[in-house]
Amino acid sequence: MMTKQPAASRRRLLAMIGGGLVVAVGAPSGVFLATRKPEDALRPWKLAGQYYHDPRLQALSYALLAPNPHNRQPWEAELVGDTELYLYRDKSRNLPVTDPYARQLTIGMGCFLELMEMAAGQEGFVLETRLFPDGEDGPVALCRFIHDEGRPDPLFKHVMNRRSHKSSFTTDLVEADVAAPLAEYASLYLGNEEHVQIREIAHDAYQTEVSTPEAFRESVDLLRLGKAAINASPDGIDVSGAMVDLAQMMNLIDPEQLYDASHAVNRDAIETSLAAILSAPASALVRTPGNSRTDQIEAGRRWLRLNLAATGLGLKLWPVSQALQEYDAVKPHFDALHQAFAPEGTRVQMLGLLGYGKQLPKSPRWRLETRMR
Ligand SMILES: Cc1cc2nc3c(=O)[nH]c(=O)nc-3n(C[C@H](O)[C@H](O)[C@H](O)COP(=O)(O)O)c2cc1C
Repeated sequence: MMTKQPAASRRRLLAMIGGGLVVAVGAPSGVFLATRKPEDALRPWKLAGQYYHDPRLQALSYALLAPNPHNRQPWEAELVGDTELYLYRDKSRNLPVTDPYARQLTIGMGCFLELMEMAAGQEGFVLETRLFPDGEDGPVALCRFIHDEGRPDPLFKHVMNRRSHKSSFTTDLVEADVAAPLAEYASLYLGNEEHVQIREIAHDAYQTEVSTPEAFRESVDLLRLGKAAINASPDGIDVSGAMVDLAQMMNLIDPEQLYDASHAVNRDAIETSLAAILSAPASALVRTPGNSRTDQIEAGRRWLRLNLAATGLGLKLWPVSQALQEYDAVKPHFDALHQAFAPEGTRVQMLGLLGYGKQLPKSPRWRLETRMR
């Protein structure tokens, strides 16, 4: 159904959505504005830690809050006996264009495992984890929960405030003494020439990705626009707010236009993101000696800890992964980054922009029950 909205204001509305602005065009009622939060999709954040009857479910209920690429949440768990669980990666959630070897998805599994171990520690359990017990095509891990003295982890208290920042940074610099604890998990570049070089590479690779139709399409296919779509599919790239809901209700969003990166609906959002990347005052690289599956899991573990530690310091961390991806269009950026920052065959697994900024909302999650085999 076509809208009766005049073309010019329709374009403006779309551009505003693209810019991520929530503007009350036509003054929607206070009730409407107040009810736009996709509460169902956010419930797993409230349910975390409510599974007291089984320490494995208890730990899993936190682990599913881990960062993961495009919020695909590819994890699946299967309880075995009374003390063990298998953790699988659901391959139907792959990202074939931007993550052809599932490197990033595996890093996300590493984030999950680390958070699961931390959560188990809170309840007095340690985990004995065997990675890829049946080889790389089988489960990611077999984990045994062992009741022990348990070691609560000081980073655990930041789990609920952790976010992947995806927005501009303030002009505040990241001071070396403030960021020092993060050096345990990543190489830090605080406002120096190397940081500027990393930021430029991240910026240029982002630009290349949005100009590569098949890569851009993969992201657009994961857009969840508005409350109903996010609640129905609490994953992918969620865009919520009254403007988006209004636009959806009024049929203002033409899915075909979304696939066109040069269209007004996208252009503002892309330019805003590019400017936000350039606003970062510091960066962090997580490197591994090689690029095996266990290297990738290790990178995920370190990224999760880096993200939590940064949260504890009041810093925001934005993973910007385009220059690390393995498809032809972004190869020049990959090579530039690795030539400059990956000595002796090491691999950059995560590139994070670091700085201060506003706290973003929580991102949606599938409920634990839906992730159990
Ligand atoms: C391996 C990996 C790669 C990621 N790459 C990007 C990226 O390039 N750009 C981005 O904005 N977020 C990236 N993210 C962050 C995810 O989008 C984010 O974790 C997910 O949407 C869930 O949001 P949350 O971390 O705030 O809970 C990445 C996360 C992981 C683990």
